[in-house]
Amino acid sequence: MNYSDVLNSKNILITGGTGSFGHQMIKELMPYKPKSITIFSRDEDKQHSMKMELEKEPIFKKMQFIIGDIRDYDRLYTVTKDIDVIFHAAALKQVPTVESYPYEAVKTNIFGAYNVVKAAVARKVKNVVAISTDKAVKPVNAMGMTKALQEKIMLSDDLTKDSTKFCCVRYGNVLGSRGSVIPLWNSKIEAKQPLPITHKEMTRFLLTLSEAIDLVFYSLKHGKGNEIFVKKASAAKITDLALAYAELKTGKKNYPLEFIGIRAGEKIDEILISEEEMRCSIERKDHFVINQEEKVDKLSTKSLISHEYYGSANTKHLTIDELKHMMKKLQWVV
Ligand SMILES: NC(=O)c1ccc[n+]([C@@H]2O[C@H](COP(=O)([O-])OP(=O)(O)OC[C@H]3O[C@@H](n4cnc5c(N)ncnc54)[C@H](OP(=O)(O)O)[C@@H]3O)[C@@H](O)[C@H]2O)c1
Repeated sequence: MNYSDVLNSKNILITGGTGSFGHQMIKELMPYKPKSITIFSRDEDKQHSMKMELEKEPIFKKMQFIIGDIRDYDRLYTVTKDIDVIFHAAALKQVPTVESYPYEAVKTNIFGAYNVVKAAVARKVKNVVAISTDKAVKPVNAMGMTKALQEKIMLSDDLTKDSTKFCCVRYGNVLGSRGSVIPLWNSKIEAKQPLPITHKEMTRFLLTLSEAIDLVFYSLKHGKGNEIFVKKASAAKITDLALAYAELKTGKKNYPLEFIGIRAGEKIDEILISEEEMRCSIERKDHFVINQEEKVDKLSTKSLISHEYYGSANTKHLTIDELKHMMKKLQWVV
């Protein structure tokens, strides 16, 4: 699909632009002609590395790097001047870290999200797309709880949002991203040690960042506002993922695994859409759109019948061969 109409000539701000999402977003923006791209994040070192990586790319001339924290409203107000589109990706996203320091995630994922909304409304930014996660659905860990509230803040009627459309895009695990399990498994394989797996039955949704970003662009083009876009994705057992990865790396089938137990705040399976949300969801070919509950006709029988949730347990699981094929295609194994 072509997104020139919503990306060309636009001033784009990416909060958390130095992360995995931001890096891939820049690649996906390369075929387009945005007017400017502002990368907004806290750590100067990550910004420096990103500048080094991109300095020879034509898109670099349109980029600016700004140090700031989404917890700081004044800073966000300053950087949102003349911005047309915000991709809000900045977050604390590691489950174990946030279990230890939940209030830090409250400050970043909740207060920070509110600051993004407030600045976007004050500056009459046309579109905000916030990135969410399956862990925000029926959350059991502090990270998911804060991301669930981020969604609510993005889509609430708290502030008058006449000039700005807000959408969220929700997806599951992006395996190549920072903090994913792959670097850990790599080091274990190099040390000829078994691969640590939390639980034998654990399943997760898997998708590529490119697929996720396609839905982000789609929501920008087709979103009416106040909706959550959810990517349809394949799921897999984590044991199969580990076996597929180890086989590609070592050539050995049935590489040894070590079951270490579920970590604090982890679920066995993830849910992308709860049964309650299914009542107000529209299904399309490769995604769902969750509309706000109050817009659903609660008297219609259609909205009263129970719908099955959309989770990593009740969807198709990729086989080891399919996982190997996917990893090869994505060059996860080098
Ligand atoms: N990766 C996944 O598997 C996955 C799955 C579903 C959803 N998501 C969501 O996708 C989004 C992007 O994830 P990612 O994988 O790109 O994460 P990431 O690689 O950890 O990047 C996070 C980015 O946010 C910035 N950041 C963190 N706190 C900030 C703050 N207070 N103010 C400004 N910038 C801040 C970080 O830079 P500094 O540290 O320099 O500030 C970095 O640029 C997140 O919202 C995450 O919840 C990710």
